[in-house]
Amino acid sequence: MKVLVIGSGGREHAIAYKLNQSEKVDKIYAIPGNPGIAKIGECVAGSVEDNEMIVKFAKDHNIDLTVIGPEVPLCNGLADDLEAAGLMAFGPTKYAATLEGSKAFSKDFMIRHNIPTARYKEVNSYDEAVEAINDFQFPLVIKADGLAAGKGVVIVENVDDAKKTLKEMMVDGSLDGAGSKVVLEEFLTGFECSLLCFTDGTTIVPMVSAKDHKQVFDGNTGPNTGGMGTVSPNPFLPEGMDEIFEKEILEPFMAGLKADNMDYRGVVFIGLMIENNKPKVLEFNVRFGDPETQSIMLRLDSDLYDIMVACATKTLKDVEVKWNDKHVACLVLASQGYPGSYPKGIEIKNIDDCDDCVVFHAGTAIKDGKLVTSGGRVLNICATGDSLDEVREKVYKVANKIDFDGKFYRNDIGLR
Ligand code: AMP
Ligand code: GLY
Repeated sequence: MKVLVIGSGGREHAIAYKLNQSEKVDKIYAIPGNPGIAKIGECVAGSVEDNEMIVKFAKDHNIDLTVIGPEVPLCNGLADDLEAAGLMAFGPTKYAATLEGSKAFSKDFMIRHNIPTARYKEVNSYDEAVEAINDFQFPLVIKADGLAAGKGVVIVENVDDAKKTLKEMMVDGSLDGAGSKVVLEEFLTGFECSLLCFTDGTTIVPMVSAKDHKQVFDGNTGPNTGGMGTVSPNPFLPEGMDEIFEKEILEPFMAGLKADNMDYRGVVFIGLMIENNKPKVLEFNVRFGDPETQSIMLRLDSDLYDIMVACATKTLKDVEVKWNDKHVACLVLASQGYPGSYPKGIEIKNIDDCDDCVVFHAGTAIKDGKLVTSGGRVLNICATGDSLDEVREKVYKVANKIDFDGKFYRNDIGLR
């Protein structure tokens, strides 16, 4: 079988790595892929936003399955376009992807289907927003409606800061139009956890837990990032949450998909806040998490190709999804300056012979025959073992060895 992976990050490298272990997969293509993926497949230049080019490529190359990594092509209807051309896609339709593409749509879905979430109000103008502030206490959560690459959520402590943020988003257009509509939301306390699941729209299968570290510096300080590292299992998740998630979140979610006739075949990544064992949904993402996926894939014992085809063909109930009991850590090596601006094109050294770690490429490129940095998150060092201590030791050993100017990473992945 021939598989096409859409995307260029560590998440896509981890997906390709796992698909490459399938006996059924003979050839992996990626658009645009990265130098790590290029070692196990063929990378083809192109934009993840060019639906026409991607569909044509998949047709011309008789691709059996296209796996869509990032949210932008999903929200652009890539899965719909592939299906319309008679091709199999792993990833929800454009309509279902609106669960991530619009916070207001997503909140409305949650309320209508009794999925626990924070109280909110949708506002469509700055004046309406300022008026609505009075209905909330501080801290107040302000969310741009549209996709904003992780920059769309701001938590403010007072009226002045609320007005300033609302003006930037709604009047000045700071987020390229993503903030012309805004959701104001009650601030929730508790601890955050992500729940990733495979679904074909009828059956939903949770993956093993993973803990992401979102803030850039040790001790959860500094600005939010896409994620600086993950461990699986999530050491902070209390016992017995699986049943609570099933009853309080997954059952109403699946009932909601059915009631709204939403064709959802792919991964749903549910961001949760948990207090006193009560989960509330912060957000839906319509894709794998990055870097959650890098840890989770190393715990999957079943054939990923079979699972993805089962999602795409609505036969997920017939496949066994098996996980191992190992511990996994994934550590992000980042470029100085991330999540702000950072230099690119810096040579990466000592990346060969990384002992028993798996190194996924996240933001790398080849320049003049050399491996160089090309993103804020550069490499994801992952290790598998029998304890959290063991995998932490392994990833930090390799993190020290690999070298590029401006390299930095968090030292407390997996710790409280
Ligand atoms: P979201 O993209 O909606 O998940 O929001 C990004 C981050 O903002 C979350 O991971 C939380 O850390 C924080 N956040 C979002 N909504 C809330 C809320 N209602 N209460 C507290 N924190 C929140
Ligand atoms: N690691 C968080 C995300 O993928 O959205």
